[in-house]
Amino acid sequence: MVSEERENSLVLIKPDAMKNSLTGYILSMLSEFHTGLRFAGAKIVSVNRILAEEHYDEHRGKFFFEPLLEYITGKLHYPDEPWKRRVIAFVYQGPEAIRKIRDIAGPTNPHEARVKKPGCIRALGTVVPVKNDKGEVIGERVDNLIHASANTADAEREIKLWFKPTDIPPHMRDYETEICDTHYYYQDGGLSSTYSPGGIGFLSPGDLAWKSDLESLRSHLAGAKAACSVNAVAAKYLINMENVL
Ligand code: RTP
Ligand code: MG
Repeated sequence: MVSEERENSLVLIKPDAMKNSLTGYILSMLSEFHTGLRFAGAKIVSVNRILAEEHYDEHRGKFFFEPLLEYITGKLHYPDEPWKRRVIAFVYQGPEAIRKIRDIAGPTNPHEARVKKPGCIRALGTVVPVKNDKGEVIGERVDNLIHASANTADAEREIKLWFKPTDIPPHMRDYETEICDTHYYYQDGGLSSTYSPGGIGFLSPGDLAWKSDLESLRSHLAGAKAACSVNAVAAKYLINMENVL
């Protein structure tokens, strides 16, 4: 368990913020001087579909799920410049990290953010109509610049989804780890402990891994029910790989 003094949050600077050059502004708003929080991890990620689906797993089946995947993978803001499709992912850590960051981010919908909390980050976001195949408006897509974990359970799931233990300095790492004793290969959404052509090796004996990930992988190999899908474990190891889009 993580004490309140060491609360963690995953923060994503989303593609619309990158496109509008708001990274520096957002980081200033979240600086240690303003929030009392510290960076515990950082990486630039070209978000592939596997990671996007797992990150927004709770929204599967909703009308805005597909537009949301297009948004977070950067395809919407960089349709013709795939090399610019990226987000910056951070682990922030410190007292009340979740509440503090969500306060500064503001309400999910930028229209609401402008009315209820002028000056918050999402007050600078946009709301875009979502149309069906016939061109009829069926709802809105919410481009709101930043993601921040909603609670401690989400933060743990999200940080383990985006970051390997070794992406975080040992003294800032708050979730249990374990040394891996097996080779694990990812192939077409499946898992194997032996190599076959096309398989992507993502963990080897001696590697440090999240303990909960290894428990899930062992369950999958045994054909038992696992807490986490293979994709949710493998996604962080597939980040920025050329053959995974
Ligand atoms: P986030 O997860 O990105 O930090 O945002 P949140 O907790 O404030 O909102 P959440 O309900 O988790 O929604 C995740 C993202 O989905 C898009 N969204 N669109 N059209 C809609 O009604 C709608 N609702 C949510 C937003 O991009 C939101 O950030
Ligand atoms: Mg959320």
